[in-house]
Amino acid sequence: MKNAISIADKVHWVGVRHADLKVFDDLFPTHNGTTYNSYLVQGGEKTILIDTVKEPFAAEFLSKIEEQVPLDKIDAVVVNHTEPDHSGCILLLLEKNPELLIYCSKAGENFLKQLLNRDFNSEIVSDGYELDLGGRTLRFILAPYLHWPDTIFTYLVEEQILFPCDAFGAHYCPNNLFDDEISEFYTDFHFYFDCIMRPFKDKVRDALAKIDGLPIQMVCPSHGPVRRSTGQFAIESYARWSVAPPEGGKPRALLAVLSSHGNTRNMANVIKAELETQGFEVTDFALSGMRDDDYRNALEQADVLVLGTPTIQRDAPPHVWHALSLISSVTPKSKVAAVFGSFGWSGEAVKMVEQRLTGLKYKFAAEGISFRFTPTPENLESCRKFDEQIAGTIHTRD
Ligand code: FEO
Repeated sequence: MKNAISIADKVHWVGVRHADLKVFDDLFPTHNGTTYNSYLVQGGEKTILIDTVKEPFAAEFLSKIEEQVPLDKIDAVVVNHTEPDHSGCILLLLEKNPELLIYCSKAGENFLKQLLNRDFNSEIVSDGYELDLGGRTLRFILAPYLHWPDTIFTYLVEEQILFPCDAFGAHYCPNNLFDDEISEFYTDFHFYFDCIMRPFKDKVRDALAKIDGLPIQMVCPSHGPVRRSTGQFAIESYARWSVAPPEGGKPRALLAVLSSHGNTRNMANVIKAELETQGFEVTDFALSGMRDDDYRNALEQADVLVLGTPTIQRDAPPHVWHALSLISSVTPKSKVAAVFGSFGWSGEAVKMVEQRLTGLKYKFAAEGISFRFTPTPENLESCRKFDEQIAGTIHTRD
C-alpha cells in the first residue's frame, strides 16, 4: 500500500496507513492502528478527490495522487466530513491550487471556514444533488452526525460505489486494501461503531433509510479496509446495532446507585419497590461494580434514569461521575431523570448531579431528594412520593 491502488476503472485509493496509532483523537484505543482513506475519481471532464488525509501524512498522500494526475489537474475536493483526519491536507491543496472547488454540506462549509481560516471556493450540496464528471456521476446523500453534523455520503452512480467517510469504517490498518484479502477485522469494526457511531443511533437509522434499496457494489469508508465483498454485511451490521428501543410494554426505569454506608441503598430499595408497584420494570445497578456496557445498554432502553448518590467530601463519588460521563457515549432512549441520596455532612451531590444532567439536556421527572444519615420512616415515605412523581411524569408523557 505504498502506492495508489486501483479500486475500479479510473477510481484509485490514495490513502495512507497509520499502523502505529495507539489512541484515535486522544479518545479511543486503536488496537490495530488505522488508515486515512482518500479516493481519486476521474471522469471525462473532471477529476475529483474524495476526502484527504491527516496532515502529517501529506507528502505520502500527494505523491500517491501524483502517480495518477498532476495536482493542478484536480478540479475539486468532495469533503464528506471535515474532521482533520480527512480535511488535514485541504489547506495544502489550496496553497497549490487556490481555485480548487470544494463540495460539502452547509455545516461542512461553516466548519471548514474555521478549520482553514482562509477563503476558498465552495459549493454546498443538497440531498440527492448530482455532479457530472463527464460520463460518470457523483450523487451526494446528506448523513448528518455520521460522524459530525457536516457528514455526507458520496455515491458513484455508474460503478455503484458508496463513499460514506467514517460510516462502515474500522480502525484497522491492513497490509492489503480489500476486505477479501485480509483476515477478519470484525472486532475492530464493531468497536469502532461503539466508539464513533453509537451516540448517534437515531441518525444512523436515518442514513440507512436513505441508502435502502440503493445498489451498492462496494463500500469505501475513510478508515480501514475497502469492502468489495462485504459492503452489505457492514450495512446490515449497522442496521442491527442501531435498532430502535422497543415501544410498548411496561415503562423501564434504570436505577443506578452508589451507597457508601447503606443509607442511599436503603432509599433505593424503597424506590425500587415503589417503582415496581407503579408499573415499572426496574433495572438495578450498583455503580461501583457495574460493567460499563451493561449500563450503556440499559441507558438505551430506559424511560427514566433514577440515580442515587451519597455525598463524599462535598462531591458525588467518582463512580457516579463516570456513569454520567457514559451518557454521551450512547443514544439514551429518554432524557428524563430523577436523583436522590443520603449524606452525612453537607449533601451537595444530588444538586451537583442534577446540574450535570441539566447540562446533558435531561428533564426531571421528580424533584431531587436527599436526607442526612439513616433515612427515617418519614424519609422513606418521601421516597415513595418521589416515585409517585416519577410515575406521574412518565405515565402521562406523549
Ligand atoms: Fe475519521 Fe470523524 O473522522
